[in-house]
Amino acid sequence: MTKAMIPLMRPSPHGARVVNVSSRLGRVNGRRNRLANVELRDQLSSPDLLTEELIDRTVSKFINQVKDGTWESGGWPQTFTDYPMSKLAVNAYTRLMAKELERRGEEEKIYVNSFCPGWVKTAMTGYAGNMPPEDAADTGVWLSLVLSEEAVTGKFFAERREINF
Ligand SMILES: NC(=O)c1ccc[n+]([C@@H]2O[C@H](COP(=O)([O-])OP(=O)(O)OC[C@H]3O[C@@H](n4cnc5c(N)ncnc54)[C@H](OP(=O)(O)O)[C@@H]3O)[C@@H](O)[C@H]2O)c1
Repeated sequence: MTKAMIPLMRPSPHGARVVNVSSRLGRVNGRRNRLANVELRDQLSSPDLLTEELIDRTVSKFINQVKDGTWESGGWPQTFTDYPMSKLAVNAYTRLMAKELERRGEEEKIYVNSFCPGWVKTAMTGYAGNMPPEDAADTGVWLSLVLSEEAVTGKFFAERREINF
């Protein structure tokens, strides 16, 4: 969908923006709940090794193991598993797309970043989060409209600060 939308985006003096809503649960190198395979983590973390094919291959392998019932021993994140896997893909794709769009000329710049809104009172959490959606939207709005002094792209944010992927 992002690829389909890119040609429709108009140039902006401070760069057009794509902001992906992600989660800290999808961090490749988070201390807890990460992929067990160190080599795969390194590949997904390395700008030179990260490709769309690698992201697709990783997600497909997970989905196939879910289908054949072997995912529990597959070394995937242990908590919530499918959700961190989807956000891991979002984060990786954010970085990949940022790199691909960086080659564009100054006039047609598009900056791509992702952010974690925190634990929010929405349907997804059964309204059990610790903040309302209005507050959770802050970093996303900031990335979309405010942050304009420098070219920030391919980064992951929470509470208006860059955090590790
Ligand atoms: N809530 C949290 O604590 C939290 C934390 C970290 C990240 N996030 C992320 O924040 C984003 C928003 O989540 P939320 O908490 O606002 O969840 P939510 O209350 O469950 O809202 C999800 C929204 O996505 C729409 N949606 C779901 N599947 C869709 C599909 N296949 N096509 C089109 N629209 C679809 C739903 O539409 P309908 O209403 O029509 O079903 C709904 O409006 C998600 O990406 C979530 O992963 C949330």
